[in-house]
Amino acid sequence: MAIESQLELEWLGGPSERRLRASRPGFDDLPWDSFEPRADDAENPNLIATRALWTNGVFTEYASAAAFAAMAGAFLECRAPVDLSAAAADIVVDEIDHATVASRLVMELGGAVPFRADFALVSPATTPDASPVVRAAELALKTSCVGEALSISALSRSLAGADHPLVRAVLDRLLRDEGHHARIGAWFFEWADDRLGDDDRRHLAGVALDAIAVYRPLWRDRCAACEAPAALGGTAPQSHAELMIDAVRTRVAAPLERLGIALDRDRLDELLQ
Ligand SMILES: [Fe+2]
Ligand SMILES: [Fe+2]
Repeated sequence: MAIESQLELEWLGGPSERRLRASRPGFDDLPWDSFEPRADDAENPNLIATRALWTNGVFTEYASAAAFAAMAGAFLECRAPVDLSAAAADIVVDEIDHATVASRLVMELGGAVPFRADFALVSPATTPDASPVVRAAELALKTSCVGEALSISALSRSLAGADHPLVRAVLDRLLRDEGHHARIGAWFFEWADDRLGDDDRRHLAGVALDAIAVYRPLWRDRCAACEAPAALGGTAPQSHAELMIDAVRTRVAAPLERLGIALDRDRLDELLQ
């Protein structure tokens, strides 16, 4: 039974806060007071769309943290090299830092919009009874090779259009970490190469296509009227769609093929229509 609740990040403070701030310094140096509120902010549709964009951003960062946490556990379970597992676990902290940065930005913009989710389902599922290495491969695929690869393109485009100093500083901090997030999947597949058989690769190609299908709303059916202004991190629906289709082909499908996971071209073309 789904139990949904409003997205809200709780903060404990004290030693856990000091530990997080020490490992990801610079949070307080962002230009937090550079956003100047106006009297009509609560009714301004552009600002409401921006708050919605960044409220969704808090959730996607939070969900990425859960996904990398699942991936780090799966790496340990399949006895992947421990430095690789450490990198996966460390990326969890990156993503939690991103969630907190995006959350503070939302607060500066006037607060979150209603956003409900079932947090018990936030971690990605894997195929029941899959072997430990295939389970780890599924998580690496969905989280890094697909999700993070697409997020680099989207964030880079947002940064190119953004001109508010706070939004630029936040996007900069998010993007700084994304290169490794998108590459750790490939590092895993290079190690796992001789541990995956042909059947596993065919299965994983299907998993990758299913993962791409989840992102279809990024290039189809985007609501033009609900888009946030570029200055605050939004992108026009048409150019965003073209960017995402190109990213699926060049940043997801082509690198996966080089790693021995060839996606069915007809199904990929169909998904990208
Ligand atoms: Fe992130
Ligand atoms: Fe990321």
